[in-house]
Amino acid sequence: MKFTARIFRSLSLAVAAIALVVGSLTIAAAPAAAADYEVKMGSDSGLLVFEPANLTVKAGDTVTWVNNKMAPHNVIFDDGSVPGGKDLATKVSHSQLTFAPGESYSTTFTADMPAGEYSYYCAPHRGAGMVGKITVEG
Ligand code: CO
Repeated sequence: MKFTARIFRSLSLAVAAIALVVGSLTIAAAPAAAADYEVKMGSDSGLLVFEPANLTVKAGDTVTWVNNKMAPHNVIFDDGSVPGGKDLATKVSHSQLTFAPGESYSTTFTADMPAGEYSYYCAPHRGAGMVGKITVEG
C-alpha cells in the first residue's frame, strides 16, 4: 500500500512537470498581442491637430480616434496617400463627423493590408494643418 502511494505520488509529479513544460511552450509560441493606440482629435490645449500626429503600428494593431476638442473632426485617407487603391482608402477612413467629446471610431490595420505609410486628414480642418500619418510596419 505504501509502495503504491509512493508510485502514485511520483507519477503525479511527473504529470505536473510535463504540464508545466507544455504550458510554457504554448505561451512562447503565441504571437505578440495586438496593440491598441489612441489618437486625440484636437489637442487638450485646443489646437487643430491629431495627437499624436504620427504613429507606427504593426499588422493587427488598432487605432482609435477620439474626439477631444475643437469639433467637428473626421479621418479621411485618400487613395493617393495609402499603399493601396481607393477601396483600401475608403475602408480605413471615417468620413462621419464627430461632434461630442469622447465620440470615437477605430481602424484595425489587418495583416492583409499592405505595409507602408497611410496619410490622412480631417476634412473640415485640412487647411489648418490637421493631418496625421500611420506607418504600418511589415
Ligand atoms: Co478637425
